[in-house]
Amino acid sequence: MRHLDMSPYRPFREMGRSCRTRLIQDKVVRWARPEPRDSRDGRFVVRPLAQADVDAAAQLWRLSYPEIYGSPHNFMLFPEEYQARMALAETWEEDAVTKPCCMLVIQEKATGRLAAASLMTKFDANLQIEWTFAGTHPDYRQLGLMGLLGDTMEWVSRASGAEYLTTFLETWHTITQAETLKKAGGWRLAGIFPGNFTRWTKDQQEYRACEVHMYRFINDGGKYATKPEEWHLHPDLQKLWEALEAFNRGIGGPEAEER
Ligand SMILES: CC(C)(COP(=O)(O)OP(=O)(O)OC[C@H]1O[C@@H](n2cnc3c(N)ncnc32)[C@H](O)[C@@H]1OP(=O)(O)O)[C@@H](O)C(=O)NCCC(=O)NCCS
Repeated sequence: MRHLDMSPYRPFREMGRSCRTRLIQDKVVRWARPEPRDSRDGRFVVRPLAQADVDAAAQLWRLSYPEIYGSPHNFMLFPEEYQARMALAETWEEDAVTKPCCMLVIQEKATGRLAAASLMTKFDANLQIEWTFAGTHPDYRQLGLMGLLGDTMEWVSRASGAEYLTTFLETWHTITQAETLKKAGGWRLAGIFPGNFTRWTKDQQEYRACEVHMYRFINDGGKYATKPEEWHLHPDLQKLWEALEAFNRGIGGPEAEER
């Protein structure tokens, strides 16, 4: 990062008294490379995207998540857009730092077909990873593939040095909402963003979809986050925060604490 002598400047309000602070220096999320891992029945393997997968991966996203057409994630539908953005198995060492996205794929071993995939996006200076998307090919749904992807995304996130995770759930997708609320695994509700992302509907039409946003601290990230007692919330927003906290205690229980 470019450094600046900040001594002549003053913050609007001195914050960070209820949490740890640290020296600002270069921050990097380095994609940790997961070892290929078989599904419990041995039929599938989960592994990082390789150059040879990009055509099949783009096709998988067209079939499993066509709603992203025309959105900021349109690039996922076009194989020629992958090299610039995705960490690839063949060039992992370099890509782990320079590429903003990490895609994991699940392959059916007998046929070589890609059955499911996920995409994570990193924000180095914020030590953040967004769990951006997960999709399973319609022929392979309800075989537990999301669980396999989720466990691997969890491992990559922790081993990559991120301390703040975010994700969003589609409001048209009741299954992921029900699953996330059933076993939140530390995720907390942040808010509901009406009209957040453009989404394809059919033919060449789009609309703006509402998304449910969630967040989680890992790797001690929560220790650097200001606590509510230090915030200056408008009384009406304070009420909203208390309702959110009550909701999050309900879905997470002890799991809602940082793990
Ligand atoms: C959501 C999606 C990724 C689930 O993938 P999957 O590989 O079928 O999921 P899994 O088989 O691992 O199932 C995960 C859990 O969801 C449940 N589930 C999945 N599909 C379900 C369905 N149609 N009805 C009810 N429950 C369902 C499973 O029972 C499982 O629960 P369990 O862990 O308690 O057994 C898949 O349906 C999909 O690709 N949808 C379109 C893209 C999308 O909407 N992505 C997520 C947007 S937020």
